[in-house]
Amino acid sequence: MLEKLKNKPFRLNRSELAVPGSRSDFFEKAAQGNSDIVFLDLEDSVAIEKKDQARINVVEAIEGIDWGKKTLSVRVNSMDTDFFEKDILSLLDTKNERLDLLMLPKVNSDKDVLKLEKVVRQLEKKNKREKRLGFELIIQTAKGLINVNNIAGASNRVESLHFGAADFGTSIGAKTMSIGGASNFYGTLSQLHKKNKKRTLFLNDIWQVALFNINLAASAHDLRAVDCPYGDFNDNEGFEALAKSSYSLGFDGKMVIHPNQINIANKVYSPTKKELLEAKEMLHIIEKSSQEGKGAVVFQGKMLDIVTVKQAKNIVELHNKIVSRSKND
Ligand code: GLV
Ligand code: MG
Repeated sequence: MLEKLKNKPFRLNRSELAVPGSRSDFFEKAAQGNSDIVFLDLEDSVAIEKKDQARINVVEAIEGIDWGKKTLSVRVNSMDTDFFEKDILSLLDTKNERLDLLMLPKVNSDKDVLKLEKVVRQLEKKNKREKRLGFELIIQTAKGLINVNNIAGASNRVESLHFGAADFGTSIGAKTMSIGGASNFYGTLSQLHKKNKKRTLFLNDIWQVALFNINLAASAHDLRAVDCPYGDFNDNEGFEALAKSSYSLGFDGKMVIHPNQINIANKVYSPTKKELLEAKEMLHIIEKSSQEGKGAVVFQGKMLDIVTVKQAKNIVELHNKIVSRSKND
């Protein structure tokens, strides 16, 4: 039986900062930074020989550092490793309840989620923990993407689906070398242009199908969709372009691997002033026209209908949530 997580909390998830569990010297800065969520990593940013120490650091940091109102998550090792159980046990076999979320990488099927749910539920009960942990699930294997809809619906604790481009690329044999970056070869060559006798390579987005399907499953199950990290942290332009692309598709935010990327993500995944003004104006016009008993409305030369109203409302609602979150900080 699935356990119902009543009243899932609203969380901003525009920027989610990864901090290696082995780098306890980064923890304070992360706690004081601007990212909406911090996740302390026990998985792939930690070398095998540092796993045990990282686990100790993370447990100490959950209790010992003042995380303020920040959402705090820990990425545990995947279920096919010997570290997974040790990670879960260390994090949950305690009465300390500061942790908000558990992030599970390399989720392959709904069975993985149910297994996680079972072990978490048992430990919460044993330790009389009152706060129910939410789950963040990374889709980063071929199996995970095939099963994404079942994964998304497997437990009411699931709050978000994340895309892990680096592992996903590896899983499908893609030839990409930089984490979450573009490929200069994945594209189509045009016919010869008559005038200059040249051909143009039109690049395709190598992650498009994965991103689309993850957002589809997240939307169907009312979850947040979070885009992959971008490894080239000196390339803010490349980071911003990909963030804007997934924001347009419907994503809530992006994982970030460097403090440089936090403010960019926070800005990109927030409605712009122009979007907000237009949305408010649309809502005003629609309300006025419905009071006058009119149906269709024209705004800036384009037809508005019910769905545009919903989109406008979403933008205003997101903006209001961001403002009220900042006031509470
Ligand atoms: C993240 O873990 C990734 O694999 O991109
Ligand atoms: Mg990875």
